[in-house]
Amino acid sequence: MSVLERAISAGYLDDEQPWAVFFDLDALHGRFKRLERAFPADTQHAVAIKANPLLAVLRQLVNQGAGLEAASMGELRLALASGANPASIVFDSPAKTDTELAEAMDAGVYINADSLDELERIHRLNPPDSARIGIRVNPVVGGGSIEGTSVSTQSSKFGVSLLRSQRKLLAAFRNYPWLRGLHVHTGSQGYELRRLVEGVRRCVDFAQKLAGEFGDGRIDTIDIGGGLPVGYRPHIEAPTIEDYADALRDRVPEIFGRRWRLITEFGRWLHGPCAFAASRVETVKDSPRGPIAVIHFGADLMLRRAYRPDDWYHKVTIHDECGQVATGDEVELTVAGPLCFSGDLIVRGERKVRPKPGGIIVAHDVGAYTFSMWSRYCSRPFPQVIGYRHTNGGVDFEMLHRGESDADLVTFWER
Ligand SMILES: Cc1ncc(COP(=O)(O)O)c(C=O)c1O
Repeated sequence: MSVLERAISAGYLDDEQPWAVFFDLDALHGRFKRLERAFPADTQHAVAIKANPLLAVLRQLVNQGAGLEAASMGELRLALASGANPASIVFDSPAKTDTELAEAMDAGVYINADSLDELERIHRLNPPDSARIGIRVNPVVGGGSIEGTSVSTQSSKFGVSLLRSQRKLLAAFRNYPWLRGLHVHTGSQGYELRRLVEGVRRCVDFAQKLAGEFGDGRIDTIDIGGGLPVGYRPHIEAPTIEDYADALRDRVPEIFGRRWRLITEFGRWLHGPCAFAASRVETVKDSPRGPIAVIHFGADLMLRRAYRPDDWYHKVTIHDECGQVATGDEVELTVAGPLCFSGDLIVRGERKVRPKPGGIIVAHDVGAYTFSMWSRYCSRPFPQVIGYRHTNGGVDFEMLHRGESDADLVTFWER
C-alpha cells in the first residue's frame, strides 16, 4: 500500500481538508546522513531555511547535527527558535539593517556580509572580538540554464565580484581584522556540476591569494553555499551529493584539508525529493484542447512551476479516490489550480489518464521552495503539512503544520 493510500485510509484528504503536503521525514534523515558522509566530519552543514522553513523539520535537522542558514531576520528567528546552537547558524541576508547586524552579532551567529558597504557598516558597529564574519564573493563563472537562479553572472545582485573588485576585497581584508571568512554560493537549480565546482575553485584561489598577502591564518572559514540540483525530470539524471563531493575533492582538494572551517548551505537537494502534494480533483471540464482538472493547489504552492513552466518541471500523477494509480485511456490533460487567473496551471497539456472528480492528483518532489514560497493570492489558507515515517510494515503520520485556520486567515488581513 502506498503512503498516499494509507493517508487516505487514515482520513486525510477529506472534504474539509481536500489537499495536503506529505513530507517523508525518514528520507530527509537519510539525505542529511549522506551529506555528512560526503564531507569531512567537522563540516558545518547549515541547511538553507528558505527551502523549507517548517520548524518541526528544522528541529529534526538540528537534532541530527545540522546548522541552519538564514536568509532574512525572520529566518534567523526561526533558526534560534529551532534550538540550533547560535554558533552553527549562518546569517546571509543581502539586505541587513544595522539593527539586524547588531542583533546577529549579539546572538553569536556567523555573518556573511554581502557587500563592501555592509563591511563598512559592520566596522562602524565595532564588532566584538568574538564576532565571526565573512564576505560573500561572486566567482563570476556565468549563469546556469535558469536565469532566476543564476547568481554568478557579472550583473548578479549578490556578493562582491572576484572579477572586478579583488583589489577592494584585499583592502577590506587589510582594514578589517575581524573579517575572517569567504562565502560563495555559485548558483542553484540549473547549474552544471562543473560550474558549481568552478565557483568554489575561484573562491579558494582567492583564499590562497589572501594567504600570500597576509599570511596563512588570515581567514579561518570557507562557506561553499548550496546549489546542488534535484532531478525533477525523471529522464534526466541529476548529480548526487557524492558526485559533487568527489568533483570538489578532485578540483578543490584544499577544502578537505582542515585548513579552514568548512560550511555548506544545501537546501533543495536535501528537501526537494522528500515531499509530495496531493489534492482531491474538484471538477473536470472539457475544452477543445482536452480535459482540464481543477484541484486545490496551483501557483500558490508551485509559484515557479506556474510562472516559468519550462524552467521548473514537476512530475504529476493521477490516482483514483483511494489513492491507487489511475488506469485508462490517456488524454491531453491540463491541471489547473484554484486561483483566479488563467496562468494558474501546473500541467499544460501532457498525456495522462483522464482523472475523475473525487480522484486524487499528486505533484512530486515538492519538499523545497514550494510552501516556503506560499502565495496569499485569493486568500486560500496555508496547507496542512503531514510528516510520515516508515515503521515495520506501516507508516506513522504526524502533523508538521496544522495549516491555517479561517481565523488565522482573517487575522492576517486584519492586522
Ligand atoms: C546564499 C545561499 N545559500 C544557500 C542556498 C540554497 O541553495 P540550494 O537550495 O540550491 O541548495 C541559496 C539559495 O538561494 C542561497 O542563496
